[in-house]
Amino acid sequence: MKNYNVGIIGATGMVGQRFITLLDKHPWFKIKLLAASGRSAGKKYADAVGSRWAMKTEIPADVRDMVVMDAVEDMKKIAAEVDFVFCAVDMKKDEIKALEEAYAKCECPVISNNSAHRHTPDVPMIIPELNPEHAALIDAQRKRLGTKRGFIAVKSNCSLQSYVPAVYPLLKFNPSRVLISTYQAISGAGKTFETFPEIVDNVIPYIGGEEEKSEKEPMKIFGTVENGVIKEAVRPSFTSQCIRVPVSDGHLASVFISFDNKPSKEEILKCWREFSGEPQRLNLPSAPKQFLHYFEEDNMPQTRLQRDLEGGMAISLGRLREDSQYDYKFIGLSHNTLRGAAGGAVLMAELLCAKGYLD
Ligand SMILES: NC(=O)c1ccc[n+]([C@@H]2O[C@H](COP(=O)([O-])OP(=O)(O)OC[C@H]3O[C@@H](n4cnc5c(N)ncnc54)[C@H](OP(=O)(O)O)[C@@H]3O)[C@@H](O)[C@H]2O)c1
Repeated sequence: MKNYNVGIIGATGMVGQRFITLLDKHPWFKIKLLAASGRSAGKKYADAVGSRWAMKTEIPADVRDMVVMDAVEDMKKIAAEVDFVFCAVDMKKDEIKALEEAYAKCECPVISNNSAHRHTPDVPMIIPELNPEHAALIDAQRKRLGTKRGFIAVKSNCSLQSYVPAVYPLLKFNPSRVLISTYQAISGAGKTFETFPEIVDNVIPYIGGEEEKSEKEPMKIFGTVENGVIKEAVRPSFTSQCIRVPVSDGHLASVFISFDNKPSKEEILKCWREFSGEPQRLNLPSAPKQFLHYFEEDNMPQTRLQRDLEGGMAISLGRLREDSQYDYKFIGLSHNTLRGAAGGAVLMAELLCAKGYLD
């Protein structure tokens, strides 16, 4: 596999920091430049990020002194120097839409963590194990944008990574209804306990926009490519409540599910155990060996114990049992800034490289 020069847009943020740690010593991707807002531009990375650095490891030596570029003002220069960019910025939705489209039109592919383009019909929203075939949308999108290389591909919201991967292998049993409550970490809001003291000893029953994303995005992921756009799935119907809890990293979900053709518990466990996708077949560098891990113990999975499983890229499941109102209930867990954000985006980029979309 050839090597690719990459840029990180939003490098000083929580997700941007994850990209930096994940790409340090990545076998294919080399960080060529970092960009953020005008507030950080012109400063050395270590000075720009300052006390916001929230990773457990030190800032990698080769990015410490990189001078941060301005994601908007320096766009053309950035686009000319890299093969593609990862993007995770905190800006208004219409500004993000315009920024990402402008990079794509500069022939710089954008692998995005932002929600702005998730429902643009020709922008693929890929969980590499589930819907790698949605990459086919890129050809239609390039036609619309008038580009040869440039395109946008997005990651889905972090909350749904704890239950959608578990529902996907069960689609053959025609699930009809899925009810979810999520218990979400504070890093999902770009926060730490130092910057979010009001969460200590507390639970906050509202995360703006999260429930809509948790219910709507699975329908695009389960959809099919038709005439260059996604035809969204209409079933199963998802309903959710998303709750912020005093946990640093890791989103846990409590899931209830009913089917048209109710499988046995053993059939569900077999589907989960045997499920693997394109990243496993292609042996992509960031792919977990086993995507779905089922824990038999009654008190598992636990956020602190399992969030880092397989480098934070595996999904942990447990407590599958019959329910009195739905057919079954279970618990799911994923790492929100690894599988749910930067790690999922790196895996998507690896998939798109392997399929030739980033050449
Ligand atoms: N945290 C998660 O678990 C998670 C998961 C999935 C998706 N996301 C999404 O990823 C994005 C970033 O989230 P985050 O948690 O990393 O946010 P964050 O920690 O608040 O970081 C925001 C980043 O955006 C940059 N930025 C702000 N205004 C800008 C502008 N006008 N031009 C260019 N850059 C600008 C900031 O640069 P300065 O430092 O210079 O201000 C910083 O690098 C959001 O869209 C979020 O919804 C986050």
